[in-house]
Amino acid sequence: MTSAMTQDELKTLVGRAALDYVQAGSIVGVGTGSTVDKFIDALGEALKADPARVAGAVSSSVRSTQRLEALGIKVLPSESVTALGVYIDGADEIDHQGNMIKGGGAALTREKIVADLAEKFVCIADESKLVQTLGKFPLPVEVIPMAAAQVIRAFAKLGGTGKVREGVTTDNGNVIVDVTGLSISAPAQFESEINQLPGVVTVGVFARNKASVCLLGTSQGVKTLSF
Ligand code: A5P
Repeated sequence: MTSAMTQDELKTLVGRAALDYVQAGSIVGVGTGSTVDKFIDALGEALKADPARVAGAVSSSVRSTQRLEALGIKVLPSESVTALGVYIDGADEIDHQGNMIKGGGAALTREKIVADLAEKFVCIADESKLVQTLGKFPLPVEVIPMAAAQVIRAFAKLGGTGKVREGVTTDNGNVIVDVTGLSISAPAQFESEINQLPGVVTVGVFARNKASVCLLGTSQGVKTLSF
């Protein structure tokens, strides 16, 4: 492997590597984003060789559902599933303990719901996502529209600057507030605190549903971090 791998190639690498975590014939939880797209592509290839490779998927977004169905993969409603072995998803940031910021693609609420069904969260990411402390990436928060201004004022008290993401309505009909200027040193405590704000549907800190494993794409190959 050379150091000239592009970010796209790194994503392909980890998307393929994630297949090793999917038990044959199982139902797999599938996240959202450009890295997950690579996983879905790899799954499509695997299905050509073995049509029973997976029995179906639970998806965290309309976007992933469409991609899965285009490959002939049955997508089950999460309400019909009581448990999943594994949930595969990307992250906007991941720290050395497996805590993540997610929601860059605005799918965080469904991602957290599906992640919570799974025994294991396998995060797939290129090495640019690994950080010491979460918060450089603007923190996405899904908010009921009438609470947006109020939530932004609450973040201001915590030192953050919130802004409603323009032109975005989530799959659940809400808005996303992106918050900059945070340094999240205690992610689990922070997640609980923000969850208490009225009108917050989901905060993009995944500490309670943190990664069990991160497959990190590096120019030296896939590095496996276990938490
Ligand atoms: C989607 O809402 C996000 O949580 C994604 O998992 C995250 O933004 C990572 O996306 P990429 O794989 O496109 O970087």
